[in-house]
Formats: sequence, structure tokens, C-alpha cells
Amino acid sequence: MSDPWRRLLAAGQAQAGVELRGLTTYKLGGPAAYFVEANDPSTLAATAEALADSPLPVLILGRGSNLVIADDGFPGVVIRLGRRFAGIETGEVVTAGGAAGLPQVARTATAAARRGVEFMIGIPGTVGGGVRQNAGCFGSEMVDVLETADLFDLGRGETSTVGAGDLAMAYRQTNLAPTQIVLEARFRTDAGDPDEGAARIREITRWRRLHQPGGTLNAGSVFKNPPGDSAGRIIDSLGLKGTAVGGASVSEKHANFFVAMPGTKASEVYLLVAKVRETVKARTGIDLEPEIQFAGRFADRGE
Ligand code: EPU
Repeated sequence: MSDPWRRLLAAGQAQAGVELRGLTTYKLGGPAAYFVEANDPSTLAATAEALADSPLPVLILGRGSNLVIADDGFPGVVIRLGRRFAGIETGEVVTAGGAAGLPQVARTATAAARRGVEFMIGIPGTVGGGVRQNAGCFGSEMVDVLETADLFDLGRGETSTVGAGDLAMAYRQTNLAPTQIVLEARFRTDAGDPDEGAARIREITRWRRLHQPGGTLNAGSVFKNPPGDSAGRIIDSLGLKGTAVGGASVSEKHANFFVAMPGTKASEVYLLVAKVRETVKARTGIDLEPEIQFAGRFADRGE
């Protein structure tokens, strides 16, 4: 039997050695052993079959806005949904493909006089990534508006529809497995005034510009907030703004954002995260849990 991954390459359904750095907001890290851009269910089914025949680590990629890819890349298959999965339809329920950008959902729904998803303007990721992580900002998170989601399970090769209540959504977490892809999600909205919605969107955008280091290479909040406190406030209070490892440093603007100079290595970001985590633990007893995802091999961590 020939290698199923070779078959996918030959069929044009996968590519080998694809550089990932341009597909992440940090713009660093190495290539994917295999990369699948899925624009139809049959490509997903073929990928599931290949995984069943010849298992590899799986990484589902959205906008790469919460992700650090290791310097030697990802030794498995990276799957990204293509444009076919980026549609947005508005009605009482707003339906968006897994590859749709959350800011785009906010703008489209608001322009169509739907209210309730404006907060998504502040989350620079995809619908799929947002659901997976129960992303949120400005007092709202995905669980507040999610009704149902269609999932494709790469382990079983099957599609299913689940309700938000099936996903065990809590602060920045769900029970979605790394092999479950969010193909589409449906969000509850109310009737709203487009001008009021646009004003809310402007307010959120302005707040982010004032408080977060936009225009730099970063991946949003590095750590989850511990119960009742803010990781940024804690890191700042310990005087750690500006702390650096190589080209990676704690932002002077917001201490829970770690910014990278062009040319920074993923290992430097990883070591900075470990260093800040250790310092916070030693000085406050609080063990901050990373929110950003590391993919691939890092020094003391394996795959
Ligand atoms: N603070 C400091 N110093 C800093 C940063 C913050 O003292 O360097 C203080 C602020 O003054 C404020 C408190 O810490 O009193 C909280 O800061 P902020 O309002 O910026 O909110 P956050 O808890 O740091 C959370 C989300 C963000 C989201 C904002 C706005 C998490 C981990 N982060 O940030 O989400 O944009 O609220 O709603 O929940 C993300 O998840 O990637 C993300 C950016």
C-alpha cells in the first residue's frame, strides 16, 4: 500500500513543506510537513482517511492569531479551511463558516441590523478558532451567542451538529478535541440599529487601539486571566514590562501581550513565556496558564 500522504500530495489535496509563518500573526516558526487547504468536504474526508491509515499530529489553523509555531515547524498535518467555508448569512440567526473572520461577522451582522455579535470585532481570529476557545472580549464571549455548530471529526471522518451546551464552554475553553474542526456556527442575534452597532464597533476598536499593542507582531493575550484578577495587571505590577528573551519582549503597552521583533525565534517567545510564568509563580504564588497555543517541538516540552 502506498503512503496515504503521498496519495494526497499526488491528488493535489495536500502540499508538503509549506511555510506557516506567513499564516500566523507572530510571523515566525517553520514549515508544516503536510498542509491541507480544504475547500470541500471530500478533501476533509480524504484527510481523515489518510490519518486513519497513517496517523500524524494534527493542527487546525485559523488566522494563527493565538499561535506560536516551533522553529523547526509542525511535524504533522496542518489543516486550514478555505474560502468555501468563510460565508456569512444574516437573519435572526447569523450563520458563519468556520473560516470566516470574527471581525467580519461583527461588521456584516451589524450592517444587516442584527445586534449581539459586535464584540467579535475585538477578536482577530476565525469563527472556528473563536468557538474552539470560547474567545471573548468586552464582557461577552462566544458561549453567550452560540446556538449550534457543525463539526467535522477527523478521527471518525464524520460531520455532526452540536448545541453550545454540548461543548462544555467555560472561560477560554471548550471540550473540542484537536481533531474536531468547526465547519460552521450559528449565532443568536436581536434586531438592532445599524448606526448604534457601528458606534459600538468604533468604541471597541478605539479602546483596543488605546490599550493593546496593535501594529506589532503578537498573538493577543499570552495568559488566561486567573480568577478575579488580570494577568496583565499582575505582570505589570511586578515590573516585568520590557522583560525580553532575544527579540521577544513583554509589551510596554499591555503586559499580557508579548511582542516580537521581526526575526524573533519561536524558542525565544517560548522561553519568555516560561520566564514570566516562573517569576509570577515565585513572587505571587499564582500559576498563570498560557492562553496562546504552542505547536511543534519546543525545548523541554516535546511535541
Ligand atoms: N492592566 C495593567 N497593566 C497592564 C495591562 C493591564 O495594570 O499592562 C490592568 C488594566 O488597567 C485593567 C486590568 O489590568 O485594570 C485588565 O486589563 P484589560 O482591561 O486590558 O483586560 P485584560 O483582562 O488584560 C481581557 C482579555 C482580552 C480582551 C480584553 C478586553 C483575557 C486573557 N484577555 O484582557 O482578550 O481583549 O479583556 O475585553 O481574557 C485575548 O484573549 O487574546 C485578548 C486580547
